[in-house]
Amino acid sequence: MKNKTILITGGTTGIGLASAKLLSAAGAKVIVTGRNPTTLAAARQELPANVLILKSDSGNLADAQALGTEVKKLTDKIDGIFFNAGIGQFGPIEAMTPQNYDDMFNVNVRGPYFQLQSLLTLLPNPSAIVLNASVVAELGFPTTTIYAATKAAVVSLGKSLAVELAPRGVRVNTLSPGPITTPIYNKLGFPPEAQKGFEDHMASMSLFKRFGTAEEVAKLVRFLLSDDSSYIIGENITIDGGVRLT
Ligand SMILES: NC(=O)c1ccc[n+]([C@@H]2O[C@H](COP(=O)([O-])OP(=O)(O)OC[C@H]3O[C@@H](n4cnc5c(N)ncnc54)[C@H](OP(=O)(O)O)[C@@H]3O)[C@@H](O)[C@H]2O)c1
Repeated sequence: MKNKTILITGGTTGIGLASAKLLSAAGAKVIVTGRNPTTLAAARQELPANVLILKSDSGNLADAQALGTEVKKLTDKIDGIFFNAGIGQFGPIEAMTPQNYDDMFNVNVRGPYFQLQSLLTLLPNPSAIVLNASVVAELGFPTTTIYAATKAAVVSLGKSLAVELAPRGVRVNTLSPGPITTPIYNKLGFPPEAQKGFEDHMASMSLFKRFGTAEEVAKLVRFLLSDDSSYIIGENITIDGGVRLT
């Protein structure tokens, strides 16, 4: 990944943080975004000093549309983008509010779309984009209705963008993780006992009977952003320990 500059949205915890570490160790110049001052500061401590950290809220349209301008202050080209920032708010349909709907669609779908629009002129030929969706986009899974719909939208964006941007040499792919151990499970809105039950159920669905790690996903991100995947385009690659098969 030497001589490549990589942008990772939501690179302050979980899968994004692990990807930032791995890509930086592989020689890339890495820029990450986040929005929470506490996790931004913690990431500054954890990431190598040459990783640049930008405060930018994917759920805020003005921030999303300004991301290109902000990144241009740091670099004149971005060889790869991992659109990873995402949130989940789970619950039965009776409990879901229009605010839940707007929050998840704004961060998970509108954010990456308008961020990408603002970053287009920074993408050289060739360059690569990876979108982070979820295996729930193709599973019927209770309590995940709106979240799963946002991720199905991400999978769809990945396919259309792959076709639209291919003539410019921009290669777009999507990945769909299954259960991966990250801080997201503390933010889903479940009461503690329900959270434990949900996590146990997810682990039991994996053919390995365990969650995946953020580092396992980061290796797939590195591959999809590298020249090693130069003939892979418009794919949605599942990394779920076989959850979708059970
Ligand atoms: N873990 C899983 O099992 C799993 C499975 C399938 C898909 N995914 C997807 O993987 C992606 C990463 O999730 P994760 O599991 O690594 O969770 P995580 O640890 O909660 O990481 C989410 C990252 O996104 C950032 N983020 C969230 N909202 C943001 C916003 N509005 N603007 C900017 N940054 C924002 C967070 O930063 P702040 O701290 O600043 O909010 C954090 O850096 C998400 O898209 C998620 O849907 C995860």
